[in-house]
Amino acid sequence: MTKPKVFVARRIPEEGLNAIRAVCDVDVWPEQLPPSADELLRRAKDCDGLVSLLTDRVGAGLLDAAPRLKVVSNFAVGFNNVDVPACTARGVCVGNTPGALTDATADIAVTLLLSAARRIGESAADAREGRWLTWEPLGWLGSDLAGRTLGIVGMGRIGFATAKRLHGGWGMKVLYTARGPKADADQTLGATRVELDELLERSDFVSVHADLNPSTKGLFGAAQFKKMKRTAVFVNTSRGPLVDQSALAEALRCGTIFSAGLDVTDPEPLPTTHELYKLPNCTIVPHIASATIETRNAMARLCANNLLAGVRGEPLPNWVNPDVAEKRRK
Ligand code: DGY
Repeated sequence: MTKPKVFVARRIPEEGLNAIRAVCDVDVWPEQLPPSADELLRRAKDCDGLVSLLTDRVGAGLLDAAPRLKVVSNFAVGFNNVDVPACTARGVCVGNTPGALTDATADIAVTLLLSAARRIGESAADAREGRWLTWEPLGWLGSDLAGRTLGIVGMGRIGFATAKRLHGGWGMKVLYTARGPKADADQTLGATRVELDELLERSDFVSVHADLNPSTKGLFGAAQFKKMKRTAVFVNTSRGPLVDQSALAEALRCGTIFSAGLDVTDPEPLPTTHELYKLPNCTIVPHIASATIETRNAMARLCANNLLAGVRGEPLPNWVNPDVAEKRRK
């Protein structure tokens, strides 16, 4: 029997790749940079399965060029790079990796929040570059976390894990936005669900965990930064396009808010000439939230399990579009 053909759009941890190799005929993209759209299409066109990354656009064009495709297994929890309705319409299953990266991402949200509050990027650069002249009573003053108010925009798994750390460790009061009430957050963290405007007005720290979709694109613009406290710290570990970066730069430059920590930008990578890099109160890291050995291994396992279920025609363990099963039955 011929093995299912699979294209894996980047090298992923061996334990995921080995599981796929045991069952499938696998072509792995060997480069550090993603395949171009043309190359992705060329490699995927005869495949039964595709492992994509958040840097790979999986849209109608690719799906039409790859008529045998049964499954797109995205090596990420976010799947805004995949046109899910187009997949569903063509009977293609989509999988993602929820849960595996919750803790690692919450850790980076807290790291960025602390770094931005305590001016770590700026003060470390000052030390390295000779601007540390003496111990200064008024130098590098940041802000405390203890007892302050945290605003979580998007109280999903990662938002909750972030709030749990900051409520448990620093006694922060938690406000959040979500499509509906979150009993777990309300009961275990004493959290309160509010509208976004109220969250922005009342929070000392705002951490963004909403997914990217048409209703969240550009959610943070000049008007939202104006509503925040002048002392506020803004953190984004979700997706760059939620934020109008020119408005953020302006808010940081003018002191509309105190500082920001970003794991995600738009585009990625953010060009080194971008104005945000020139601002000492903006800390930017290169989308590393899930970058721990344990987490990437766990993501690879989930990704392989989704892929293998998809090529076998079985339900995906983490299935973004289970309604595709209905479509296939018709
Ligand atoms: C995700 O999984 O969506 C993260 O952004 C990358 O780890």
